[in-house]
Amino acid sequence: MSLIENRAAIAPLQRRVSLRAGAQTLPSVAEMVASLRPSEPLHCIRPAVISSAAQNFAAAFNGDVLYAVKCNPEPAVLRALWDGGIRHFDCASISEVTLVRRLFPGAHIHFMHPVKSRPAIREAWGLHGVRDFVLDSTSELDKIMQEIGTTADARPGLFIRLALPETGAVINLSKKFGADFETAVALLRAARPLAGRLGVAFHAGSQCLDPLAWRDAIALAGEAMRAAGVRVDVLDIGGGFPATYPDMEPPPLGAFMAEIDAAYERLAMPWLKLWAEPGRALVTGGGSVVVQVQLRKGNMLYINDGVYGALADAGALKFRFPTRLLHARPSAGAPDAAFGFFGPSCDSLDVMNGPFILPDDVREGDWAEIGQLGAYGTCLRTAFNGFDRAALVEVRDRAMLEAPGSEPAA
Ligand SMILES: Cc1ncc(COP(=O)(O)O)c(C=O)c1O
Repeated sequence: MSLIENRAAIAPLQRRVSLRAGAQTLPSVAEMVASLRPSEPLHCIRPAVISSAAQNFAAAFNGDVLYAVKCNPEPAVLRALWDGGIRHFDCASISEVTLVRRLFPGAHIHFMHPVKSRPAIREAWGLHGVRDFVLDSTSELDKIMQEIGTTADARPGLFIRLALPETGAVINLSKKFGADFETAVALLRAARPLAGRLGVAFHAGSQCLDPLAWRDAIALAGEAMRAAGVRVDVLDIGGGFPATYPDMEPPPLGAFMAEIDAAYERLAMPWLKLWAEPGRALVTGGGSVVVQVQLRKGNMLYINDGVYGALADAGALKFRFPTRLLHARPSAGAPDAAFGFFGPSCDSLDVMNGPFILPDDVREGDWAEIGQLGAYGTCLRTAFNGFDRAALVEVRDRAMLEAPGSEPAA
């Protein structure tokens, strides 16, 4: 079986991945680069890192863990999560639902996008057995109920998404979605008689470094449940759990779980089940991209991937990622220096200032591995300017940065 398969960016959910995790001995990134000498971006998935992150999260969290598929829908990634014990999936589109159902017929799928198309609701409910839907408006509640054509013996799980005040997360997810407090209370009352199970959901924002954000959000959700005066079955505390980047070292996962457990106890609703929807925290360390340097101008490197590829977050969001050089020729060793990157497109916005740290003797033809790209990297690629070629391999390397307090993957 080939270790490598060309892939197309424009239909990322349609691709096949050639190597089953564990199907044979996996090579390392350095071995892959030495043998393939890739002239297109090479996406490197680390299944063992992903499985171990999933196991660590599930062991620490007192509830069901729903992986947020949007974060990285690569089948190789989904299989690694499954191997790590993940059985619940938070899907945002019918393509994600279809993908998960095809890979894992027994998976529990939850449709957690607050605005869905009518055909997507119908297909998810009727064809794929999806029973849980999130909403933040009366219109969406009406839409869901009309499309599933509910009967007495099949009632949906209805989850009311509550907007949160600013949490300080790098990416705020309460401006676009979430009902304000009064609306959430009204929706809980309206949904209770229609729901098989009723939930409150929130999202603290992606890459939220403050464990107290969950303490405050759980307390607010509790207030909404009490104000509604109806029994709520599930509290879904969303995603947002942070990953490690060069200038962002989050508190250990245990610090978040301690706040969550204490806040749950204070609710004094022992019947309430907890769910979480992590994406970034499970897969960041499990993906990297190897790029090739096409030109050096001073300390700017023109590389073959950029903000329209897997490096979107290095652009507008100014994320820094760990880097290591893989020389195309023997090197005597050189001190480290700070570099910026230009991506391959003709767009001047295709720039990533980093700084990214590499040896000062980096030259045209060398490769750089850019790490911590398992979340919101590969899945954000576009075909802009025709830069739509890349390959995907599975490797056995460790994450380029370990999560604090985590056991390194073997
Ligand atoms: C509804 C929902 N759940 C979960 C996630 C995953 O968030 P994160 O990757 O920050 O854990 C997202 C991210 O956008 C989301 O919108």
